[in-house]
Amino acid sequence: MPLCWALSREIALMYPAREYIDMLRILVLHGPNLNLLGTREQSIYGTLSLEALNGAIAKLAKELSVEVKQCQSNSEGELVTWIQEARTRYDGIIINPAAYTHTSVAIRDAIAAVGLPTVEVHLSNIHQREEFRHRSFIAGVALGQITGLGPTGYLLALRGLHDHLVAFRLQNITPPPAASQRRAKGTRPSRSRFNDRTESEGSIE
Ligand code: DQA
Repeated sequence: MPLCWALSREIALMYPAREYIDMLRILVLHGPNLNLLGTREQSIYGTLSLEALNGAIAKLAKELSVEVKQCQSNSEGELVTWIQEARTRYDGIIINPAAYTHTSVAIRDAIAAVGLPTVEVHLSNIHQREEFRHRSFIAGVALGQITGLGPTGYLLALRGLHDHLVAFRLQNITPPPAASQRRAKGTRPSRSRFNDRTESEGSIE
């Protein structure tokens, strides 16, 4: 069960605590042919370009104080490499694997291997379309799947992943001292145990 479900009643309590948490980093991956958004099969995928979609994601990320990096590739291997590299650099992944959703054991294995919470997004409702699109190799290793809500699906994925990660972090930290105490001592809260990631060189950061 996603952690944010368990905490949904306490959500109002959760957000004030957000200031004690280091900035979340989320990698957004767009699969093959999504670079053609805006011109590609508009009756299915709409008229919004990938650039405009990325802009909307970045705007919400700023509101949520989340750092996002957006990448698109037509190559399965490149997507696998980016997922692998994300392990030490990001807290979660949002991915629209596009056609690889229905074929790629390699992308599924990469997501399972890195163990980062991953949300699968599709602009169209894959379950309403051709039968070969009904099967997702990714869904079984994803935190959740959002399908059929167009560009809004990415924004929901970002909110959902943000809430999940915040809930996870709050479960794993000792409550910080009251703000007044911190001011008095002139200290910042400790960087806590989930920030012991080691950084390695790679092509995405
Ligand atoms: C898609 C659905 C896939 O079946 C298709 O191959 C895509 C886009 C979507 O966003 O609706 O390229 O992932």
